[in-house]
Amino acid sequence: ALQASFACKAHNQSQSYLANNQIRSSFKVAVLGAAGGIGQPLALLIKMSPLVSTLHLYDVANVKGVAADLSHCNTPSQVLDFTGTPELGDALKGVDVVVIPAGVPRKPGMTRDDLFNINANIVKTLVEAVADNCPDAFIHIISNPVNSTVPIAAEVLRQKGVYDPKKLFGVTTLDVVRANTFVAQKKNLKLIDVDVPVIGGHAGITILPLLSKTKPSVTFTDKEVEELTVRIQNAGTEVVEAKAGAGSATLSMAYAAARFVESSLRALDGDGDVYECAFVQSELTELPYFASRIKLGKKGVEAIISSDLQGLTEYEQKALEALKPELKASIEKGVAFAQKQA
Ligand code: NAI
Repeated sequence: ALQASFACKAHNQSQSYLANNQIRSSFKVAVLGAAGGIGQPLALLIKMSPLVSTLHLYDVANVKGVAADLSHCNTPSQVLDFTGTPELGDALKGVDVVVIPAGVPRKPGMTRDDLFNINANIVKTLVEAVADNCPDAFIHIISNPVNSTVPIAAEVLRQKGVYDPKKLFGVTTLDVVRANTFVAQKKNLKLIDVDVPVIGGHAGITILPLLSKTKPSVTFTDKEVEELTVRIQNAGTEVVEAKAGAGSATLSMAYAAARFVESSLRALDGDGDVYECAFVQSELTELPYFASRIKLGKKGVEAIISSDLQGLTEYEQKALEALKPELKASIEKGVAFAQKQA
């Protein structure tokens, strides 16, 4: 019963992969910003994965206690703690997947772009260390604004001569998780079956759920499309306002990020059937980075799924054109920041 209530299709695939004893290997995962609102529950969920051998927790403060606490869970992975810049290199050595939720979250009235000045520097510094210590790792960027922090990370890696576009991901899984939940509620569907691709970026109108591509196939009225699209786009703000100054989504984000980590680990382990949405370098549109469904493999992005962009409804086509200028500006802001710092 627990599994059914917790489940979605990706989670289910993951459960069956694990239950069928197909695991070949186990992996080292690092969380940077591990003592934060996302970092702590994310570390807990990763600690539960049988695909993880070692979990490295890094933060600028308060990480010792989190690691001590977590290390008492009797799941196989070992938990190690690392505090502050002098220990950052060791936190990253030998790591297969690096997850970055370090940085400040939104307060009511703020857009994700308002976080740029602080989080841009944090992401830059952390990704420099990734480039120096584990350049082959998958990098999952959670820190907002994702539309800018992913281009920053790419530029930093490029400057260091180690950029592999197949291994850098902006984490947009929460948009998919929200879309699946809201669509299932609205259409009275079994949540476990619902899968809505979400494309574009990860802020406001750049988040574009492709409701016409919902699986299982389901029809929406124009009003339902409008309401669902706006709710999915503003879902983060719904949480920010409900928390009234205490931050943004942490628990649902941790759930979503853990799903993306698990999918990445399954791909690294050789599972040939792993699909997720993520914000990656892309040629799907004229923009250099774009979120869409991707196929994950051992080397990262194995394919970008272009078919989702074919046969869009008029509403989706308009929304796609409307989001491009904002997404383009956010990407350029990130690139300009990284190039100015170089
Ligand atoms: P938080 O403030 O609770 O935690 C952030 C953690 O980062 C803190 O423990 C802090 O000490 C740490 N930190 C700060 N500077 C650091 C550095 N240089 N190195 C390592 N750690 C550092 O914030 P929360 O709620 O965990 O959010 C983190 C980020 O995730 C925010 O930027 C937020 O906007 C973003 N976010 C992204 C979502 C997505 O869908 N991609 C969804 C929700 C939040």
